[in-house]
Amino acid sequence: MTIDLRLLQHEGVIDGLEGIVAAATRLSRVDGEAGQLTLAGYAVDDLAPRAAFEEVAHLLLYGRLPDPAEHSAFAQQLAAHRALPAPVVELLRQAAGLDTPPMDALRMGAAIGSLGRAQDPLNDAIAAIASFPALVGVYWRLRCGEPPVPIRYDLPHAAHYLHQLSGVEPSPERARALETYLNTVCDHGLNASTFAARVIVSTHSDIISAITGAVGALKGPLHGGAPGPALDMVFEIGSAERAESVIRARLDRGERLMGFGHRVYHVRDPRADVLAQAAERFYSTGGDRSLYDLARSVESTALRLLRERKPGRRLDTNVEFYTALLLHGLGLPAELFTPTFAVGRVLGWAAHCLEQLREGRLIRPQSTYIGPVDLHYHPAPRS
Ligand code: COA
Repeated sequence: MTIDLRLLQHEGVIDGLEGIVAAATRLSRVDGEAGQLTLAGYAVDDLAPRAAFEEVAHLLLYGRLPDPAEHSAFAQQLAAHRALPAPVVELLRQAAGLDTPPMDALRMGAAIGSLGRAQDPLNDAIAAIASFPALVGVYWRLRCGEPPVPIRYDLPHAAHYLHQLSGVEPSPERARALETYLNTVCDHGLNASTFAARVIVSTHSDIISAITGAVGALKGPLHGGAPGPALDMVFEIGSAERAESVIRARLDRGERLMGFGHRVYHVRDPRADVLAQAAERFYSTGGDRSLYDLARSVESTALRLLRERKPGRRLDTNVEFYTALLLHGLGLPAELFTPTFAVGRVLGWAAHCLEQLREGRLIRPQSTYIGPVDLHYHPAPRS
């Protein structure tokens, strides 16, 4: 592997670990040059818009898609772990009383897991994946002053999440749109939160602890927090004629355009295409098609101006731009965008933890010391 010397701020140190391969995985392949994402053998644009979330979960946890009988048995197994223990609901109630941000509430709820008793890793993994929709949904309702709704065990995973949030059984179109989103974001190579989860479980700690750490990593604005500002820009622009002037002004101020650029993809993020198509289907049937058309127009103006302003850079649309549009169309407020990302990504975290436990070693890199040496300790005189 060739290493870009600009990444070496100190001898032997690769800034941000960029370009370093730190794990072998069968779960997903991110090809940043070709703009392709493969989930356990399937192209994301083939799998995500058509498969059930339960099928994708089976694929990542067991290495293959289920047959119909396995699909149904696995869906029942997942559904059986949906309900939150009473102390978790009580914790969420207390957190709502303190107006805790939803990602912090999710981190607290995820940490309690099955009441602190880490069991066997596969069971913990399934319990975590199954519990996230209720953790987010129950908390959101409590924070809005609404009572939680009883769990519907008969609904598939994605529809169950929307039901937990709103108390209303979603239409098949809404459930499909969310399912496509969850499938699209469920795994993405060694992103920061997945790496954090693998580091934790590499010490042979438990999966609940690893997932709790991953929620903390996802919360950061450099990782899971960009779709809200991407949507704000579309709203600020308001109409296609204003796109050029608003975007030019942002670039003149040295601002970054949210929803564009990516560390790994140097071409269009393939997940943006999957979500753009899902958004188009959804907005054309049940939503405000003019918002979708405006977003398309904002995107093409942004790409044209980015090419003009940064001719040497390969900045293209990333997943966050259409995440914002799709989740907004589903009626989710911006505060729920990152927690909803977690509802999808917890599958990847869990599958990576199981893979790390099966095949990995303790992850323990080194650091280069750049502080002072030869100092001598002199006790401070007692006053
Ligand atoms: N808008 C305008 N300029 C951008 C940009 C954007 N969205 N993304 C990168 N650039 C520019 C930088 O200003 C920099 O230009 P310069 O060298 O002339 O100063 C150059 O491109 C490289 O930026 P750098 O921060 O080194 O790239 P990176 O690979 O580390 O950053 C992101 C990747 C995602 C952090 C970055 O593209 C970004 O901030 N995007 C907006 C936020 C976003 O959408 N995040 C979600 C990612 S899925």
